[in-house]
Amino acid sequence: MKITHEQWASKIGFVLAAAGSAIGLGAIWKFPYVAGTSGGGAFLLLFLLFMVLLGYPLLLAEFSIGRFAGSDAVSAYKKISPSSNSHIIGLIGLVTCFIILSFYSVIGGWIIIYIFHAISGSLSRLTVEQYNVFFQELISNPFATILAQLIFMIITIFVIARGIQDGIEKVSRFMMPALFILFILIVVRSLTLENAWEGVRFIFYPDFSKLTTDAILFALGQAFFSLSVGMSIMVTYSSYVPKSQSLPKSAFSVVLMNVFIAILAGLAIFPGVFTYGLEPSAGPTLIFSVLPTVFEQMFAGTLFMILFFLLFLFAALTSAFSLLEMIVAVIIKGDSSKRNKTAWIVGLSVFALGVPSCLSFGVLSNVLIWDKTIFDIADYVTSNILIPLGGLFIALFVAYRFPKQQLLEEIQLGSGVTETFMNIWFILIKYFTPIAIIIVFLDAIGMLSFLK
Ligand code: PHE
Repeated sequence: MKITHEQWASKIGFVLAAAGSAIGLGAIWKFPYVAGTSGGGAFLLLFLLFMVLLGYPLLLAEFSIGRFAGSDAVSAYKKISPSSNSHIIGLIGLVTCFIILSFYSVIGGWIIIYIFHAISGSLSRLTVEQYNVFFQELISNPFATILAQLIFMIITIFVIARGIQDGIEKVSRFMMPALFILFILIVVRSLTLENAWEGVRFIFYPDFSKLTTDAILFALGQAFFSLSVGMSIMVTYSSYVPKSQSLPKSAFSVVLMNVFIAILAGLAIFPGVFTYGLEPSAGPTLIFSVLPTVFEQMFAGTLFMILFFLLFLFAALTSAFSLLEMIVAVIIKGDSSKRNKTAWIVGLSVFALGVPSCLSFGVLSNVLIWDKTIFDIADYVTSNILIPLGGLFIALFVAYRFPKQQLLEEIQLGSGVTETFMNIWFILIKYFTPIAIIIVFLDAIGMLSFLK
């Protein structure tokens, strides 16, 4: 059987798919509320710095591994360094993707339920407290949430089963521009609210005194979580990139879009929160309880609420695609005839694994591991342990296992970047990235608490 590795049909297709993977809950939900409460503009500045010094170098590292090898993530490490056990990096990525998707789909399901309710009109005229009750009841309802999670997974499976060009690329080329346009519409609406300025000030005004150790560490961790690096997803996506495309430029576009959306998210959320006198530091419930109240009170609010949750769904879906694709690619090893069946088997297994996570907000809420619910433990293990570990190994792999000459040639292909650029990048990935990740990791496992 002849195996031809698939390719993206267009340059922009790859960039949008990679940006789609990156832009998700991290940029839209987590970033705005943390930025707002951790020094506003000062936090933003720091985040930008880490994106450039840490996120970007790692993203480019994954891109060059993937395109150089032109194969799935496990084979890629083997191909580049056959004598080492580096393919374990790919396997860690695979496990990480499996676990993340199992709980990411739970939240995807909630978003679907919100869209249904928003359309049916049953979300109108509730107060924040009532939304809170609604939200708590919704997430503890086993039947509805599992069904919605299944729907979210089935959409994801459908797209992955169709492959790179017909599936991921086609859908991302529609969803990502739609996401930008919807966001801009909402931001325009939100900036024309009465007290919009207070919200803008909340996220932009630099208050360096609020830049705590916690905030700095969060900015560091967020810089690579929100770019989806560390689990070889970007190795997978870049294996479909033709040699004529510039990797440094593509990576730059992905970073830029991610930052842009994070800022838009802040501008969409906070003006309303201040205009209607709501609590800006509501944290996790901000999007599900506070935001609907904001929409309810504005002109044509229901429409904007439906649009907002729709774009939130798009953002979650395009991240889910990348998580499933990474696993499917490793299993089929370029043989497209196995794609359909594999996508279904893996996708449904991920769903089955995710059911306990889903139920941990209801019937299984008493099941605790290390004082955490099943959902929280899945999130904790992946975000705080597996992703940083994967990122660290990838940086070290590029610095010590990838033959330098070939590595630099790969980056040079189709890009024409200067030698100085490559030298700076190499120094960052060799020294700065590993050290920064070790700091984040030590913090995540509680070993830096003496600093606080
Ligand atoms: N980058 C995504 C976000 O910011 C999260 C994610 C991580 C998605 C890993 C895919 C893989 O929400």
